[in-house]
Amino acid sequence: MRVPFYDIKAQYDELAPELDAAVHEILSSGGYIMGPNHKAFEEEMAELHEVKHAIAVNSGTDALRIMMDAAGIGPGDEVITTAFTFVASTETIVQTGAMPVFVDIDPVTFNIDPSLIEAAITPKTKAIMPIHLFGQLADVDRVGEIGRKHNLIVLEDAAQAVGSKHNGKPAGNFGLAASLSFYVTKNLGAAGDGGMILTNDDLVAEKCRSIRVHGMGRERYYYDYLGYTSRLDEIQAAVLRIKLTKLVAWNTRRAELAQIYLEALESADVVLPMTSPGNTNTWHQFSVRCTRRDGLQAHLKEKGVDSMIYYPVPLHYHEPYRRFGKGEGSLPESERAALQILNLPMHQHLSEDQVRHVSECVKEFCAPVRA
Ligand SMILES: Cc1ncc(COP(=O)(O)O)c(C=O)c1O
Repeated sequence: MRVPFYDIKAQYDELAPELDAAVHEILSSGGYIMGPNHKAFEEEMAELHEVKHAIAVNSGTDALRIMMDAAGIGPGDEVITTAFTFVASTETIVQTGAMPVFVDIDPVTFNIDPSLIEAAITPKTKAIMPIHLFGQLADVDRVGEIGRKHNLIVLEDAAQAVGSKHNGKPAGNFGLAASLSFYVTKNLGAAGDGGMILTNDDLVAEKCRSIRVHGMGRERYYYDYLGYTSRLDEIQAAVLRIKLTKLVAWNTRRAELAQIYLEALESADVVLPMTSPGNTNTWHQFSVRCTRRDGLQAHLKEKGVDSMIYYPVPLHYHEPYRRFGKGEGSLPESERAALQILNLPMHQHLSEDQVRHVSECVKEFCAPVRA
């Protein structure tokens, strides 16, 4: 049985008539930028995430950068974050002129280990950026407490946590602002790139809205801030609005499939993902840990099962970011996770048979050793 890692086309097939009609309508209308879909999408996302403001931009990476500019992060500042993640958070911290300070992850959740944050605080620390990896929120209670105690800004990288919650509260409510990504493979994926900033702060929202269009203020061709071109175009907004109507159902389906994996793999010699108490996991990824990871991946490939390694090399090992880290051995859990993690196929269009088949293939290679 062939099991692809993603099936983006299945999303199109499920919604084809609506998607085709919406794209056609926009093309024939001639209104391609900042139109009614853009506005409605922002309102719908603000409502879903229970925040005052949602500002749609061109990508999750732009959302990070604009959010940090609006929060006043810049040269001389330090931002505490993690290295076991996608590059965009650290990349954009460096682009602002600030310095990323890496702390290690909690090996169970892959998210920032809050017990290590205080030791990394210096007089230059301006912000903490937890990254909600794989669909569940970092320990936002403890990160928030530390932020308040030390007067630090908290900025959430929620690219992988659209709709994820802690104690019933969605991502976007645990700091000054949060960034989302609508990259094609995300739980809510555009037909291209897209991103969003969520915030309850009026001034941050006003700045983000301005920075995404060159720093223009209320009056055209008058500039208040240094900005970028980062609008979400009308076609992407329309596609996202249509997919948004399915998001809750799709995330629920992911949770059902994750449960099948968890039960089927209970006896396998792999470490299974755990959801922290109070968290609603949207299962952006289903990640297992295995000490023979590369062998397991090769075995799955032979059986027609795709898998991915998110992330094979922590950021402090990469050339542009080495100078911000403390070298090999400085982030032992991040380094170990990079060697052991394997992401199994996880999306709402997988069949239960496919999930059971993947689990059987994993168990063939990772059977528990009996005495
Ligand atoms: C954790 C994380 N942050 C940021 C991003 C950047 O988002 P985008 O690809 O939309 O720029 C991603 C996307 O891949 C991500 O996974």
